[in-house]
Amino acid sequence: MVKLTGKNRIKTAVFISGAGSNLKNLIKFSKYNKSPIQIKCVISDNKYAKGLNYAKKFKIEKKIFKFDKENKNEKKILDFLKKNQVFLICLAGFMKILSKNFIKKFNGKILNIHPSLLPKYKGLNTHQRVIDNNEKFSGCTVHFVNSKLDSGKIILQKKVKVFKNDNSKLLAKRVLKKEHILYPEAIIKVFSNL
Ligand code: GAR
Repeated sequence: MVKLTGKNRIKTAVFISGAGSNLKNLIKFSKYNKSPIQIKCVISDNKYAKGLNYAKKFKIEKKIFKFDKENKNEKKILDFLKKNQVFLICLAGFMKILSKNFIKKFNGKILNIHPSLLPKYKGLNTHQRVIDNNEKFSGCTVHFVNSKLDSGKIILQKKVKVFKNDNSKLLAKRVLKKEHILYPEAIIKVFSNL
């Protein structure tokens, strides 16, 4: 097994849109000895994303880009990632859809965390839909990103029980707790041959 040092850790960009609790968790994880990743930069489509404060706090380079439908900024984003020698992208509460061209450029090197047991409940508003359908279990999934929404190969999942008197806020909170365990485990699984 290769000994992981700052130099040979996988240079990673984390994409966020909001609160950034998964970002914070991945930053913490990146500092452990067994972590294969080093977080080089944080990208957000939302300049008000609270998660950007974690980039500031941990002195990680951050950048805000508009992700419009015409993909006008795509070259700029790719250049920024290249400048930072980014090999892996972790989507962590990133609410924009990446273009086919972008995904092709990072083929097999983009991971996403989704708050449901995929392939069930792709897309938005997952927790309310789970509750409305009287599901007994929900959970979270880390998967590779391909050109179809929330449909790439599944890496790992964790189950969460749905209670009779649950609401979407309570369920989201319990799922998020599991996400924080799942994402590092999934990254370790992907790079376990290092
Ligand atoms: C997380 O629950 C994540 O799974 C979800 O947004 C939340 C972000 O929380 N992602 C998606 O719904 C992607 N489609 P965070 O900003 O605190 O990490």
